[in-house]
Amino acid sequence: MRVTVSRKAHFNSAHRLYRPDWSFEKNDAIFGKCNNPNYHGHNYDLTVSVTGEIDPETGFVMDVKILKDFIKSEVEDAFDHKNLNLDVPEFKELNPTAENIVVVIYDKLKKVLDSNLDLEVTLYETARNFVTYSGN
Ligand code: NI
Repeated sequence: MRVTVSRKAHFNSAHRLYRPDWSFEKNDAIFGKCNNPNYHGHNYDLTVSVTGEIDPETGFVMDVKILKDFIKSEVEDAFDHKNLNLDVPEFKELNPTAENIVVVIYDKLKKVLDSNLDLEVTLYETARNFVTYSGN
């Protein structure tokens, strides 16, 4: 029996979407308000889902407290109240779009989770705009 266990989390970050190799006009045309040179913030919401077999001894797929601690150490401590472009090394050269952020979060969590667990991460940039990545 494979069961999915999910945990929700939240962080606030600032970012700017732009490519330094493009003109301001081109960045403005592609990224719109997200190209504001003085940055802007989002209240990001996150759902982390882990799928695996139920351990017959504990009855858990994984201890949700451990999942919560991984989300805190890998995501919240790294991103919350940070400027993603300036403060987070993964985005030094990578545009912090929701798509790229969800892949970075997935990769960080995948490294610390038991390798026989499947992972899926959904990131909400706004209540209506969200992206999902499961490693494919
Ligand atoms: Ni934005």
